[in-house]
Amino acid sequence: MGARAALASAFVAAAVLLLLVNGGACAMYKVGDLDAWGVPPASKPDVYKDWAKSVKFKLGDAIWFLYPPTQDSVLQVSPDAFHTCDLSSPLLKLDDGNSIFNLTKPGRVYFTSGAPHHCLKGQKLWVDVPMADGSHVKPSANDLAALAPTPGAEDPGTTSSEPPAGSRSSDSSTADDHASSALRAVAGVGSVVAAAALSLLL
Ligand SMILES: *[C@@H]1O[C@H](CO)[C@@H](O)[C@H](O)[C@H]1NC(C)=O
Repeated sequence: MGARAALASAFVAAAVLLLLVNGGACAMYKVGDLDAWGVPPASKPDVYKDWAKSVKFKLGDAIWFLYPPTQDSVLQVSPDAFHTCDLSSPLLKLDDGNSIFNLTKPGRVYFTSGAPHHCLKGQKLWVDVPMADGSHVKPSANDLAALAPTPGAEDPGTTSSEPPAGSRSSDSSTADDHASSALRAVAGVGSVVAAAALSLLL
């Protein structure tokens, strides 16, 4: 094994270790897996719904939004704003292109794109964060209403004049298992932290 490969595997090992040290078994998941955070491509209108369904989140996990910061952003919104795609008063705005949201509070969290019209084109995500014992908070009436079809929502297949931001890798398979997706995420954004952990280990 060359020095480069050895170093690379040490980085990965340090990243995993970091996860284990850092609160037992929290993981970071990249939103959309291989797709970036962007307007869903016409071939995958439910990409975020399917993605959220595919991951078994735990309290303390984190989700990672990757997107071009000049073109997109992430808003955490109320159930009502999620339903209507109201971008005017988000609970939280993340816009650095490489945003980590920590799932530290049990319950349902709602996100939309902050870019004009992207939410109406289906760029929205909700995640159910379980309690520490793994059970789920009962959805409120607001939560149930939030998932009704959005008034004025556009069909991404017929209305998009701009290429969806998430389409760059949309032909790739998204069937990776969660562990590798979590690992990829950590290896990507955590390299600085991993390097720090590595220096502690050596
Ligand atoms: C989530 O936690 C990470 C690391 O602890 C921190 O860098 C990041 O800012 C947090 N994200 C939010 C949205 O608070």
